[in-house]
Amino acid sequence: MKILTFGASNSKASINKALAQFTATLVAGAEIEVLDLGDYDLPIFSEDLEKEIGQPAAAKAFFKKIGAADAVIVSFAEHNGSYSAAYKNLFDWASRIDQKVFQNKPTVFLATSPGPGGAGSVLASAKGSARFFGADLKAAVSVANFYDVFDAETGRITEASALADLTEAATALALQEVA
Ligand SMILES: Cc1cc2nc3c(=O)[nH]c(=O)nc-3n(C[C@H](O)[C@H](O)[C@H](O)COP(=O)(O)O)c2cc1C
Repeated sequence: MKILTFGASNSKASINKALAQFTATLVAGAEIEVLDLGDYDLPIFSEDLEKEIGQPAAAKAFFKKIGAADAVIVSFAEHNGSYSAAYKNLFDWASRIDQKVFQNKPTVFLATSPGPGGAGSVLASAKGSARFFGADLKAAVSVANFYDVFDAETGRITEASALADLTEAATALALQEVA
């Protein structure tokens, strides 16, 4: 199973990127591709600019990456209760190619932050709109207090309850393959 993972953030040291990648490793036999949103630099979306330049290559490339995957794991960074500007911008551009950005792929949504809220607001927002954007959502997990539950040396979540939630989410994706 080809799993595409990314953190919905353009931070080089994105904790969400790390969480998405780790969760993919919990799917036995997964072939994992990790996207870095820093590689999908785009001007701020506007309908006027879209009329002028059409669909930028970076938006098309992002959309194509999702299309080529069997499943997708996204972990959302929370900025002021919502999506990071970098992700929202890329998503807006991609949604103009096709509103079903997730292309009916089996999907797991995650979110994490250094604080106790675990980026729960942005995760609730992503969950609430998943069906409009073609995400076949199998699980959604928020991980609170990231730096307390993640071992940076091994790249693994070590806290039992977070690990159990992520394992359950990974299992839901894996079941997809045998179903
Ligand atoms: C502009 C800005 C706003 C933020 N707002 C929130 C917030 O609303 N809730 C939260 O839990 N963390 C917030 N944070 C902290 C982020 O959770 C933290 O920077 C985290 O590392 C972002 O994820 P990333 O490392 O994947 O980019 C904010 C950070 C920034 C820079």
